[in-house]
Amino acid sequence: ERTEGERLAELAKRRGYFFGSNAAYGGAAGFYTFGPQGAALKSNVEEAWRDRFTVKEGNLEIEAPTIMPEPVFEASGHLDGFDDMLVECPECGESHRADHLIEDETDVEDAESYPVEEVESLIADNDLRCPNCGAELAGESVEDFNLMFETNIGPGSSTPGYLRPETAQGIFVEFPRIKEYARNSLPFGVTQIGRAYRNEISPRKSIVRTREFTQAELEQFVDPERDEPDLSSVEDVEVVLYPAEEQQKDDGEYVETTIGEAVEEGVIGNAWVGYFLGIAQGWYERIGVDMDRFRFRQHLTGERAHYAADCWDAESEVDGDWIEIAGFAYRGDYDLSKHGEYGDDEFTVFRQYDEPKTVERAVVEPDMSVLGPEFGGQAADIAEALETLAERDPDAFEGDEVTVEVDGEEFAVDADVANFRVEEQTIAGEHITPHVVEPSFGVDRTVYTLLAHAYSEDEVDGEERTYLSLEPGVAPTDVGVFPLVSNVEELIDRSEDVVEQLRDAGFSVVYDDSGSIGRRYRRQDEVGTPFCVTVDRDGLEGDGPDSVTVRARDSGRQVRIPVSELVGQLRALSDG
Ligand code: GAP
Repeated sequence: ERTEGERLAELAKRRGYFFGSNAAYGGAAGFYTFGPQGAALKSNVEEAWRDRFTVKEGNLEIEAPTIMPEPVFEASGHLDGFDDMLVECPECGESHRADHLIEDETDVEDAESYPVEEVESLIADNDLRCPNCGAELAGESVEDFNLMFETNIGPGSSTPGYLRPETAQGIFVEFPRIKEYARNSLPFGVTQIGRAYRNEISPRKSIVRTREFTQAELEQFVDPERDEPDLSSVEDVEVVLYPAEEQQKDDGEYVETTIGEAVEEGVIGNAWVGYFLGIAQGWYERIGVDMDRFRFRQHLTGERAHYAADCWDAESEVDGDWIEIAGFAYRGDYDLSKHGEYGDDEFTVFRQYDEPKTVERAVVEPDMSVLGPEFGGQAADIAEALETLAERDPDAFEGDEVTVEVDGEEFAVDADVANFRVEEQTIAGEHITPHVVEPSFGVDRTVYTLLAHAYSEDEVDGEERTYLSLEPGVAPTDVGVFPLVSNVEELIDRSEDVVEQLRDAGFSVVYDDSGSIGRRYRRQDEVGTPFCVTVDRDGLEGDGPDSVTVRARDSGRQVRIPVSELVGQLRALSDG
């Protein structure tokens, strides 16, 4: 018996969904090419995501470069913290992810959160071996391996750059400009669909873990004290949740609830995260994920990325394994604060007070006509040090003299010369660093899930068939059009007219006149085309208007429809 994944990989390659890239050169693990069917399915998924998460939410979409300079990743924490644990086989030299080996071979879950020394002990205590050649791995050292691909920007090697490991950083670094387009007013969301790159230690499960993949990300910027999502559209959405607390129990259970209740009872700790889980649930259902094989799982504390305060994953089941297809992280002000600290720009927004406030502010206005002659070239630095000191420690100005340090040297300044005073000021608001809630979708894993969940086998007219029950909204081809027999000119001409009519109406159409009609149906069933239109003699010679038969993929049922009604009927069937 082949596994779901094996059947899918075979069908995907044979029918042009996806296949390993660069086969003519021996291939490179972790890179896949989407064939004609796969590219169309993926693009339809991206379009459906854009419709829901950008257009319907009124968000702003951007497209940033995929290569970014090193300081970006110093600030974001990826240079230091975006590592996986690697152990190398002493015999065959193959590299493995230590946490995956442990999780595959023992009862330990979440091995990623263990310190390196404990991971080494787990390998030794469980006598783990190289999956490739069987050699002992006990005693081998485990190291942190940074997953970013490094490159050089421009000739020479002076400016290192990295291929972005998440599209998100392209949004964060442009925050100072994007906030202007959002009129400096929170909350607002920014989206991006694009490539991300990770030098995965062991790519696996075809397009599930690759080294180059597509993410669809939304960064929702909010004022943590003022902005609440409107939950009314999602509060009744039913979800299956697997909270961290349940995962830690021996007999932990799923919580079947609604978004409204889960937020109210604190099972989902952040209302924005709850809002996006609700939207995602509806979106996944609409594009064809089997919701009986779907759940939201909360991250365990040790599992969270370096930037995340809380995180829930959307997971789909394939072959009995749960695959993370999206993450919903509460990133707090981590990213914007870091870029504000490392970068040369304002990563804040102005929060206006309801009423202007009067505050006391310490100011100094050093008398330069005294400071200049007394301290010469250092006078300006001393004046600046006095201003900083007044803001930080106004009490320092209480005596007759105030002391400041410049370049390690202390200078005493007469209090009258420093000219310190406290002024009342009216201020309209303050600068705050927005918090970020981030739904981040893996497009390739979504495509994989749709194909795995759509894969079906049954019997039609005593013959076994395989078909993909893809939703009409995402299927690569909308309609197949066939002349019943391929040697009658009139039927071919009429079929070509039908093809033209459907293409003009915006359908993606495949014309096929080769092989028996049964073979042509099977071919379209296997690529998941929801409808096939057949042009036959009955339709031409009948007394009524010209008619064709329309066959529905999953049921195999056929109905005769006048050609004049074809576009309208197919639209209704696709939407229904
Ligand atoms: N900006 C947040 C972020 O990147 P992530 O959980 O690391 O979060 C988000 O990635 C999604 O990207 C995952 O849920 C998954 O669907 C997809 N993804 C991550 N690594 C992948 C890989 N190596 N191959 C394919 N998809 C991947």
